[in-house]
Amino acid sequence: MTEPHGSEQYQQLDAQRPWLDRTLPAEVRAALALEAMTLDEKIRLVHGQVGFSFAGKPKPDAAIGSAGYVEGIPRLGIPALQESDAGLGVANPHNVRPGDEATPFPSGLATAATFDAELAELSGIRMGAEARAKGFNVLLAGGANITRDPRNGRNFEYAGEDPLVTGIMVGAAIRGIQSNRIISTIKHYALNAQETDRLVLSAKIDPGAARESDLLAFQIGIELGRPHAVMCAYNRVNGTYSCESDFLLNQVLKRDWAYPGFVMSDWGAVHSTEKAALSGLDQESGEEMDEQVYFGSALKEAVEKGNVPLERLNDMVRRILTGMFASGIVDDPPQPGGFIDYTLHAETAQTVAERGLVLLRNRNGTLPLAKGLKRIVVIGSHADKGVLSGGGSSQVIPVGGNAVPNLGPRDFPGPLVYHPSSPLKAIEAKAGGTRVEYVEGDDISRAVEVAKGADAVIIFAHQWMAETYDAPDLTLPDNQDHLIAAVAAINQNTVVVLETGGPVRMPWLSPAAAVIEAWYPGARGGEAIARALFGEVNPSGRLPITFPLDESQLPRRKTTTNTASSNAGKAADDQTVEVKYFEGADVGYKWFDKNGIKPLFPFGFGLSYTAFTYLGLTATNLGSSVTTSLEVKNIGAYRGAAIPQFYVRRPDDAAFPIRLVGWSRVLLSPGETRRVTVTIDPRLLARFDTVAGDWKIAPGRYTVEAGTHAGDLSLEAEFALTAFRLKP
Ligand code: BGC
Repeated sequence: MTEPHGSEQYQQLDAQRPWLDRTLPAEVRAALALEAMTLDEKIRLVHGQVGFSFAGKPKPDAAIGSAGYVEGIPRLGIPALQESDAGLGVANPHNVRPGDEATPFPSGLATAATFDAELAELSGIRMGAEARAKGFNVLLAGGANITRDPRNGRNFEYAGEDPLVTGIMVGAAIRGIQSNRIISTIKHYALNAQETDRLVLSAKIDPGAARESDLLAFQIGIELGRPHAVMCAYNRVNGTYSCESDFLLNQVLKRDWAYPGFVMSDWGAVHSTEKAALSGLDQESGEEMDEQVYFGSALKEAVEKGNVPLERLNDMVRRILTGMFASGIVDDPPQPGGFIDYTLHAETAQTVAERGLVLLRNRNGTLPLAKGLKRIVVIGSHADKGVLSGGGSSQVIPVGGNAVPNLGPRDFPGPLVYHPSSPLKAIEAKAGGTRVEYVEGDDISRAVEVAKGADAVIIFAHQWMAETYDAPDLTLPDNQDHLIAAVAAINQNTVVVLETGGPVRMPWLSPAAAVIEAWYPGARGGEAIARALFGEVNPSGRLPITFPLDESQLPRRKTTTNTASSNAGKAADDQTVEVKYFEGADVGYKWFDKNGIKPLFPFGFGLSYTAFTYLGLTATNLGSSVTTSLEVKNIGAYRGAAIPQFYVRRPDDAAFPIRLVGWSRVLLSPGETRRVTVTIDPRLLARFDTVAGDWKIAPGRYTVEAGTHAGDLSLEAEFALTAFRLKP
């Protein structure tokens, strides 16, 4: 007979394992468990394997079969870590088999474009629930690298170019994921801003500027999301690998931010034993991808010789255990085979897609499509079958399978995956008596022929982006610019729907009647797009990333390449490619503002089927904080969401371009007015003083500029600050 919980025998067991007492704080439980561990058991927790069959090695026996696996310590009731990617749903790109399917959520940029932190949290709740139901206790989500280059192949996993938006949106998603009593990471710490040469690249940046930009995004994300783990990145920062950077790990993360969780490496990002351990790395992940296993017997030896103090190993283990106890994975371990409400989750994915799609152009109210059209032509990008997604470790194999198999690279990060949500079918379903025709986009003359005389043409354009690659430039691939230009030239009701990983050039913009940026819109992307086209959804997304006119407007004309190196292979220590981030903290719209450059579409831009006015801006220094407030009114005919945005400038300091300090998402009926107020995070008013090691607010005049987007800030209010310092 099995003994029920609470029996004498169980209580005895518990008495021998006091760390299993759920009433104790996680740190106390971690300390108690640590005391009971042998040196070998400690070592076991600080390194992990690839979780699937890799490089001729079979899958670790007890691993579920995803990104990573760290053995547990059954004697002590400490479970193994079962790790899966990533931030757009439970991914399993390496190992497709029945049951691997999951709900694909829209890309990180789509989620960020909602400017809706509650919705980002809800997506996190759904993804985390799927991870738990599949038996994973770690979801490697939380991509928080800000966009320094719109060509970066992984921008679609992240939340755009602004540290506040990234910190708030990614932090919210992490909070949602961890609400399922599992562990989430935030990654890739730090400055992994391009894929080209990611293993050999050194990001050169002024440390103060890094604190105000890339690191601030992580700082805010960690404060709001409280992830139990941080993943250090592949690249070096100022010459030192991220996973052995005393500056990034010990000084900034653990000392200045008092981070209590553990640092796990990216897969193949560890290059040393002693240096990494002493610099603050707590766990080596995917060890088969490193040159050698650095945190196995080599670490044990280093501890025995005293080269790595035992207390440092204890600290690593304590941090990992604290995360395990605090998350709930010890008390309530996830079991594979749990129920997943895929319908509910797809609904959430659809809401994100609907709120995240950005209406970029709408000449003479082309959209929403009028009722009673005779003929609509849909062109291109497999819109008859599904919607595109981004490739790499975050790839989700969707419920229903890949709608367009056998496209793109056969091996990682391919193949291309189309989620089975056909925009064409969704358009047909809404079109009533209208005739809807579909034609592929590769035969331009045929597409032009069919488009002639149609009442509306909807061209779908694609740009596949993936981990390990950067886009060579901002031009849509596969001759699509010619297709769009040719069709728009003969049909003035041409609507372009973009499914891209990020910004693209739009040489055809002026003849196009309307443009929607739909990003990678996830499980129900087709439905979301169709609903926006027909006005069932009023577009309300805003760009979390500037769309430049072309590459000449960027700090760097090209992404740095080193043809001698590979992005996916192992890094040779003597190969370094330096990327100079001379723009410092002035990333994205700040760069455009400072240099007086007018982009194609500014950060924060997005149209609506209705119109809003903003008035009555105030800025008030309350002593302990500054608040700013305005009134927003819906002056159009549709119900819709406005996203008023507040930016700060120091008019007397040219080196201080505008910074986003807050926004609010408000749903308003026609004629309705609402006042919105935001409190400014004082770090956004400060510069980081690297000598003193803290934030310094300069005394003087500041202005809040508010309006619809970074390029249209018509309201201004002034406030004054006295000199002030904030802890780092
Ligand atoms: C990626 C990480 C990912 C890891 C495990 C790496 O290549 O950079 O984002 O979590 O693989 O799959």
